[in-house]
Amino acid sequence: MPFVGAIVAEALHEHYDPSLYGSLSTEWPNGFLVAADASDAPLGFLLGVNQVEGEARILMFAVERRERMQGVGTLLMNTFLERCRARSFRRVTLEVRVSNATAIRFYSRYQFSVIDLLRAYYSDGENGYQMARDLP
Ligand SMILES: CC(C)(COP(=O)(O)OP(=O)(O)OC[C@H]1O[C@@H](n2cnc3c(N)ncnc32)[C@H](O)[C@@H]1OP(=O)(O)O)[C@@H](O)C(=O)NCCC(=O)NCCS
Repeated sequence: MPFVGAIVAEALHEHYDPSLYGSLSTEWPNGFLVAADASDAPLGFLLGVNQVEGEARILMFAVERRERMQGVGTLLMNTFLERCRARSFRRVTLEVRVSNATAIRFYSRYQFSVIDLLRAYYSDGENGYQMARDLP
């Protein structure tokens, strides 16, 4: 949890109470993934929740800055989508800052497309995109 809190502050510029992560993952523990190296040092995480019947929502997704572009995000996303299919979810949704071109490109590669513009969605007033993809 200290790792998750640190990466959320650095990569997502948000500060949450550490107890939030545990409470969000209670209902679907397999939706909370942490990638670690061979010595168990955490490299990145993805926190997905199941708030709507048949759907997963990616709430947070980040890889440690110095570990990016090496496939960790791909590993997390592939594993997450497998777990969604194992639960027979039909759709996955997420929100992303409109300025976050790197993440938008990453999600587009995974067939996510923009379905809505969320005005002043972030705490600093920035707009967000809601993106979604169906699961075959
Ligand atoms: C989005 C994010 C999680 C992706 O994680 P990542 O570990 O860098 O992802 P990957 O390394 O699997 O893939 C990133 C890119 O590197 C490429 N790549 C992966 N391994 C590579 C390698 N060995 N050599 C060259 N390129 C490589 C991938 O093809 C991918 O290309 P893309 O730009 O078309 O998407 C990461 O950029 C991040 O943490 N960003 C900050 C937080 C954030 O914005 N989160 C999303 C909020 S909604």
